[in-house]
Amino acid sequence: MSITPATEDAISVAAAILRNGGLVGMPTETVYGIAADALNVDAVMATFAAKGRPSENPLIVHVASVDQARSLVSAFPDTASKLAERFWPGPLTLVLNKKSTIPSQVTGGLATVAVRVPAHPVARRLIEVSGLALSAPSANRFMALSPTSAEMISPGIARDLAMVLDGGPCEVGIESTVLDLSGDKPAILRPGDVSAGQIEDVLGMPVLGHSGEARKSPGMYARHYAPRAQVIVVDRLPENGAGLVLQSTADPMQIPMPLIAHEFAQKLYKALYDLDARGVDVIYVEAPPRTEEWSAVWDRLSKASHSEG
Ligand code: TXA
Ligand code: MG
Repeated sequence: MSITPATEDAISVAAAILRNGGLVGMPTETVYGIAADALNVDAVMATFAAKGRPSENPLIVHVASVDQARSLVSAFPDTASKLAERFWPGPLTLVLNKKSTIPSQVTGGLATVAVRVPAHPVARRLIEVSGLALSAPSANRFMALSPTSAEMISPGIARDLAMVLDGGPCEVGIESTVLDLSGDKPAILRPGDVSAGQIEDVLGMPVLGHSGEARKSPGMYARHYAPRAQVIVVDRLPENGAGLVLQSTADPMQIPMPLIAHEFAQKLYKALYDLDARGVDVIYVEAPPRTEEWSAVWDRLSKASHSEG
């Protein structure tokens, strides 16, 4: 794989690769993704193969505008318009009833499709130059940590990518909020940087899953977003005077973490990745506060610390 700075020339090359059915590592403001032409079944299948991901786990389709999003769905309800107006481009994914033109492989056989307009300028430019809607799951092997920089993409994934566009470290650092608008009531399927409270403010109605009890969706597993080392969340680590930290057992390295939820989220995967890279067996994470603004962080911590079986 070549990691290439995301210049306009490199984006043109990547766009040509995508139009020919290839896979490209793409920066977004949340995490890096594996971009492919969402309407090309072979490219979509290659995406699943690269990740080692079960076929019933649907992909998010990335578009550059509300109009392009509309072209993929059978209806774009008022709720979607309001949320798009407020949060797009940005880390909010909307699940809507799909048009028949979307291959069922993209949606894991569901009648709905997940769409978002990413905020990262490289992702948006790549969509525009390619003229495609781009399916893009996070660029990690199934269950593993999502990469928040180009260098964090594992060699096992990278060998299947024609190129990786390097757009620097991700600003949000955890995956987008996934909101299901296909049913009677809006429901959070995956918490993220856009909170249930913010969505409720815009819609003026309650959102299911507000308490962190997300409704079931394919692709949501108890264990996920996990480094190789075991993750244990503890109230407080001994000999730590400095606020939240991540610490490994084998060596006493501590990574100080910000006490602001979105800054903590931005650093979390990189911190787990760095400790993992030291070959440690256990990573301790000091428990952040239990308030609503930390719910996306808690979602990722509980999944990363969930033991298999
Ligand atoms: O921030 C993000 O969303 C990143 C970047 C690359 O955009 N992408 C990402 O994709 O996290 P992925 O494939 O790792 O996670 C997508 C999840 C699926 O596992 C599934 O839980 C949910 O979104 N999803 C996608 N389509 C859905 C649908 N039609 N119905 C319900 N859930 C869906
Ligand atoms: Mg993922």
